[in-house]
Amino acid sequence: MMKTVVFGGCGSERFAKLLAKRIKASYAPVRTSYFPDGELLLRLPADVRGKHAVLVYSFQPYPGEVLLEALIAIGAAKQQGAKKVTLVAPYLGFMRQDKQFHAGEAVSNSIVARLLSSADMLVTMDPHLHRIKSLNRIFSTKTTTLTANQTLADHLRRNHSDKMVVGPDEESSQWAASVAKLAGLPSIVLKKKRYTATKVRIIVKSKIPLKGKHVVIVDDIISTGHTMIEPIKQLKKLGVKSITCIGVHGVFAGNALQDLKKLAMVETTNTIHNPVARIDVTKAFAETLR
Ligand code: R5P
Repeated sequence: MMKTVVFGGCGSERFAKLLAKRIKASYAPVRTSYFPDGELLLRLPADVRGKHAVLVYSFQPYPGEVLLEALIAIGAAKQQGAKKVTLVAPYLGFMRQDKQFHAGEAVSNSIVARLLSSADMLVTMDPHLHRIKSLNRIFSTKTTTLTANQTLADHLRRNHSDKMVVGPDEESSQWAASVAKLAGLPSIVLKKKRYTATKVRIIVKSKIPLKGKHVVIVDDIISTGHTMIEPIKQLKKLGVKSITCIGVHGVFAGNALQDLKKLAMVETTNTIHNPVARIDVTKAFAETLR
């Protein structure tokens, strides 16, 4: 059987270590330094010849740097004779710019997908697929798309079984409504109008009375936090008793986490390392890699 080496890329070392442990593979962190002119020097500190090299890169906190490092690491593994190179991207960045919103803008998702297709396989979780149905539309390499829904449902059943699930916008229904169904909890999905990257308006319409309820808001990405903050304000006005925000990917741009924590409990999966990444999803990745 082909041996596997799991490499932890910048910011993803913990996730990679957990994954290596689960699949009983060896682990090594990707080593990087900079030349005096600022160019990146990357080293894979374990032999990959004839092996399966698994490179773990979650696209945070510096997506541009992570992208470059991931591309160079994929190339290095191939140069050094790896038989198969898999990119594990627990959070796959650059997927939200999936259309030209304004003249002259790059449609980054397909550009980045083409670059990352230099790996033999990509494994990711709940990528931002709102305008395209499958990553196969933009990647030319094999892709596996996992979802955190079952893990989140188990988490809700264990820790929030008396609560109602709220999806902050129509797009969140694929997480909120699905997770609620799996967990056997009631759910509602709100309507969102986005004006700018930081300004959104949420419309709450619920047939279920919200007064006195304990609520869990579930979404895929928490970035600036506004998609959570707006419904929190509205739900509080309607008499909701307590609110927990759960995101698959805790990006937490700027002060988003501090701001959100003032208003609600916050939890995310560990696709991105952050102080509230309590829900471990490495099992799903391990099952795919095995
Ligand atoms: C939107 O399409 C996503 O599902 C999230 O709702 C969005 O990315 C959250 O962004 P923010 O936290 O900046 O409102």
